[in-house]
Amino acid sequence: MKVSVKVPATSANLGPGFDCFGLALPIHNTVTIEELVDPNEGIQINVFSDEFDISEFHIPTDESNIVYKAVDLLFTYIGQTPNSMRINIYSDIPLARGFGSSASVIVGGLMATNELLGSPADEATLISIATEIEGHPDNIAAAMLGGFVLSSVEIDGSVTTRKLPWPEDWKITMCVPDFELPTSISRSVLPEMISLKDAAFNARRTAMMVEAINKQDAKLFKLGMQDKLHQPYRTKLVPGLDEIMKNLRHTENVLGTALSGAGPGIVVITQGSNTDEIKNIIKDTWEEYSVKVELKTVNVETNGAKFL
Ligand code: HSE
Repeated sequence: MKVSVKVPATSANLGPGFDCFGLALPIHNTVTIEELVDPNEGIQINVFSDEFDISEFHIPTDESNIVYKAVDLLFTYIGQTPNSMRINIYSDIPLARGFGSSASVIVGGLMATNELLGSPADEATLISIATEIEGHPDNIAAAMLGGFVLSSVEIDGSVTTRKLPWPEDWKITMCVPDFELPTSISRSVLPEMISLKDAAFNARRTAMMVEAINKQDAKLFKLGMQDKLHQPYRTKLVPGLDEIMKNLRHTENVLGTALSGAGPGIVVITQGSNTDEIKNIIKDTWEEYSVKVELKTVNVETNGAKFL
């Protein structure tokens, strides 16, 4: 028996919502888990892609693979050990670019395994297990639920989530540069402590963002999409980021520009039809830094992970 789950890409943080905001995007990875009858077959992991040369990414295909780690944690949760299984990962989401590729396969692996096991874990438990593997809940919650999701890990490891109604005409331009940035490196440049002033700045901005999304208030959203917790520290890892943000700040119909998750990808939120102008600004700015970029304007993916 085998089960496949299709899971959307995500963009985390959206500026001020560090480790809290996540937005699902309409590019998907699919994870298929197949029970193998012969116990000697062990754990087999295969990764496929029509989009990229997977061999460049050195994805582990042994028990250190994140999908396997997530599956193993689910088995531990129900007091069992994994049997022989085949894990097939079909990858369309750009890897190591800040669009939630790892979160998507963790979520897909967990949902498929849970289904094969007769659904012993509910959705909240799966989000909590996935978050334990990923380290933060923002991409996980949005991948699982779709749309715009805010999330918070509580002291007991449970994850509080709320899906907000993303305004239909607010589009996302995904900017995928031609270089990788592992999340671990992008997190390693963040300070342990930040000033009360910067914390208060972000608290104000995240509050504005939530109200702006709920009320479809573009003006408030634009004010809200500013950050002092992570982007200022990460700009040194993403050449051109500052300049792209500066160049788009006063461009018509741009509601905000942010590093996508831990980067190096960027997302631009727009409301209007001048996306070609916006794309040209990004392309030209990054060209000055010898960075090539793939640009795609999309609607938010309102559906979360689903069984095929
Ligand atoms: N919130 C996370 C970060 C997302 O910014 O590091 C990366 O997966």
